[in-house]
Amino acid sequence: GLPERVFIHEVGARDGLQNESGVVPTEAKIEFVRRLARAGLRTIEVTSFVPPKWVPQLADAAEVFAAVRADVEIAAADRRLPVLVPNERGFDRAVELGADRIAVFGSATETFARRNLNRTVAESLAMFAPVVERAGAAGIDTRGYLSMCWGDPWEGPVPLDRVVRVGKALVEMGCSQLSLGDTIGAATPGHVTALLTAFAEAGVPASRIAVHFHDSYGQALANTLAALRFGVTTVDASAGGLGGCPYAESATGNLATEDLVWMLHGLGIETGVDLGALVATSAWMADLLGRPSPSRAVQALIGK
Ligand code: HMG
Ligand code: MG
Repeated sequence: GLPERVFIHEVGARDGLQNESGVVPTEAKIEFVRRLARAGLRTIEVTSFVPPKWVPQLADAAEVFAAVRADVEIAAADRRLPVLVPNERGFDRAVELGADRIAVFGSATETFARRNLNRTVAESLAMFAPVVERAGAAGIDTRGYLSMCWGDPWEGPVPLDRVVRVGKALVEMGCSQLSLGDTIGAATPGHVTALLTAFAEAGVPASRIAVHFHDSYGQALANTLAALRFGVTTVDASAGGLGGCPYAESATGNLATEDLVWMLHGLGIETGVDLGALVATSAWMADLLGRPSPSRAVQALIGK
C-alpha cells in the first residue's frame, strides 16, 4: 500500500543553493524561503552553519536564518526550519539564533567522509555525538543525514551492511530521523528496497527513515515510489531540482519537488503543496540564476 500523506522535506535553499557557482544575494535567499512557505511547504531546510571556507555559497547563513526566523509568515506555528550543523561550533552558531531543528550529516564511505568532513567515518561520528547530545538536552530535534548510501563516485558500490552500520550509529546516537542520501543518483528501485529491508532487519524501521534522492540517472521518482511502498513517508526534494553537493563531483540536482508533487497528487497522496505557486517560485529562481529549471514538471507547467 501507499501512505495517505507524504511529508516533503524541502532542501532547495540549502542543498540547492550550496551548489550554485554564482552566489545568490542574501535578500533573494530569504525571498525564496518566503515563497516556498507560501507554496505550502511545511519543512524548509534553510541553510548550513559550516565554515564559509568550505561552502562560500552559504556564508550568509546567520543573516538568512535570522531573517527567516523573524518573518512571522515563514515561521508560522507548524513550520519546521531545520539547519545543517557539522560540529559544536556550528551548533552554537545555530542555537544562538534560535534554531530548534538541526541536522548532522555523515557518510557511509571513508572517501566522502574525508572529502566532505575532513574526518574518517569514526571521527565524524565522534564529532556529531556531543552535538546530538547537547541538542537532546535542549529539546532540539536532530535529523541524521547519511551520504553515499547507494554508491560512491570514488569507491563504487557500497555494501549494504556498511551503510546500515553507520546509519544505525546515527539513530542510536539520538537522531530522530535518518535521511538516506543517494548523493550521486546511482540508486535503482530494487537496490532501494534491499537497503530499506537491511535497515528494517537491523531494527531501524521505515517510519524512522527519509529518502534523499538525486536525479542524475532519472531514477529519483521510481526510487521514491519503491520507498513509499516500503512504508517511508518523508521524502526530501528540492524546488526546481536545484542542487547537488560541492564535495561530490558527479552529484547533479536533487529530485525536483514539482516532479514529486505531480506524482504524489496523481496517486491521491496529500502534500499540502500548491503546485502552481511552487512552479512560479522555481521559475523565478531559474530567472535569477540565468538558466532553466531541470525539473520536467516545471518545464511542462511553466506559464500554464
Ligand atoms: P576542518 O577544516 O577540519 O575544521 O573542517 P576545524 O574544526 O579544523 O576548524 C577549522 C576552522 O573553521 C577553525 O577556524 C574553526 O573555528 C572554523 P580558525 O581557527 O582556522 O579560524 N570552524 C567553523 N566556522 C564556522 N562554522 C563552523 C565551524 N567549524 C569550524 N561550523 C568541518 C571540518 C566539518 C567543519 C568541514 O569539513 C565542514 O564544514 N564540512 C561541511 C561541508 C558541507 O557543508 N558539505 C555539504 C553538505 S553535505 C551534503 O550536501 C549531502 C546531503 O545533501 C545528503 C546527500 O545528498 O548525500 C546532506
Ligand atoms: Mg543532497
